[in-house]
Amino acid sequence: MSDTQTAAPFDVRERLSALILAGTTDMAPSVMKVPLDNYRDPARHAEEIDKIFRRQPLQAAPTAAIPNPGDFTVRDILDRSLLISRGADGTAQVLLNYCTHRGALIAEGEGCTKRHACPYHGWAFDSGGTLVGIPGAEGFEELDRDTAGLVKLPTVEAYGFIWFTLDPNGTIDIEADLGSFGAELERWGYDKFWKVAVMDLEFDANWKTTVEAFSETYHFPYVHGSSIGGGVISNTATFDLFDGAHRLGAALVGMRDHAEGNAEFDPDWQTSLLYWKCPDLMLANTPFGVEVVQITPTLDPGRTRLRHTMLAKSAPTTDEELEIAEVMSTPAADAIRLEDVPTLATCARGLAEGEHGHATIGRNEPGVQNVHNQVQKRLDTNN
Ligand code: FES
Ligand SMILES: [Fe+2]
Repeated sequence: MSDTQTAAPFDVRERLSALILAGTTDMAPSVMKVPLDNYRDPARHAEEIDKIFRRQPLQAAPTAAIPNPGDFTVRDILDRSLLISRGADGTAQVLLNYCTHRGALIAEGEGCTKRHACPYHGWAFDSGGTLVGIPGAEGFEELDRDTAGLVKLPTVEAYGFIWFTLDPNGTIDIEADLGSFGAELERWGYDKFWKVAVMDLEFDANWKTTVEAFSETYHFPYVHGSSIGGGVISNTATFDLFDGAHRLGAALVGMRDHAEGNAEFDPDWQTSLLYWKCPDLMLANTPFGVEVVQITPTLDPGRTRLRHTMLAKSAPTTDEELEIAEVMSTPAADAIRLEDVPTLATCARGLAEGEHGHATIGRNEPGVQNVHNQVQKRLDTNN
């Protein structure tokens, strides 16, 4: 399959109806075999980090996570602590969270502040990372404060997300990186969404194993059978590519009524569009908003970090709306934490310890196949 298929946004309705009536799903041309070493070989993992994660634009946070000047959130990505902050002028910046005095971590968690004071000796940095205060300043008279701010990583904000690259001396061209996926993101207006809740997890799994779990609905009856699985017609989805990013049009149970001619089409309640943008961003659209799932490796091929940010389509205007947003976000986060993650941890053992040579990715798992295709493509071309 090529990286760009012509994918009219709203043809999902007809195609998904036909798939439901036929009891099938969009298929890849053939079964894929993924060598187990692709998940566990330290040299292969180091190559993925070097050629993909240290080079390519990554996604730091949704705009909605830090909507106002002074808002910040801290994340570990690979071997870096990042302070993702919105400056007083409204510009979002991804900063290395290391004090330029003697290296202490400046910030933790999330919040809103005009100044980040280092916990070690009190050096103060504003929300744009500029050094603005030194206790006992006479000890540092020769210091050029203009060059002693927090290190800025190349950052750009677009389509409701803050994108960056880990190389401070690199550049970022997000339009070139997104290609036709930019227009697909634009349709949603994610920059207007509102943050409900954030969950950080770190667990035993290869990062690709984790992305795989968000690239098919095949596992829903087994892993999520007693929770969110009941709302999904599993293993039934359209599949489209946007310059390497993919979109699954997953069928929710109400879609059967439409497919059988008994209900009007309701895109919010009958389908869920799931996206993956290589390497780290997954989006799962819901009737109320979107789950932003950020997946990054650690330096250990068998450990993954996952940040789950639930966004609502707009800020609640009443306490009741706030309560609904919070109640709706809980099952999705719980399904990941209590159901996906324990399952992925068992995959981690099987992929690390197994003697079966390769994982077998079915024709019915085109999203999973695309993950491996895109990773391999970057390993082959990013030299
Ligand atoms: S390490 Fe931050 S003020 Fe000394
Ligand atoms: Fe799942």
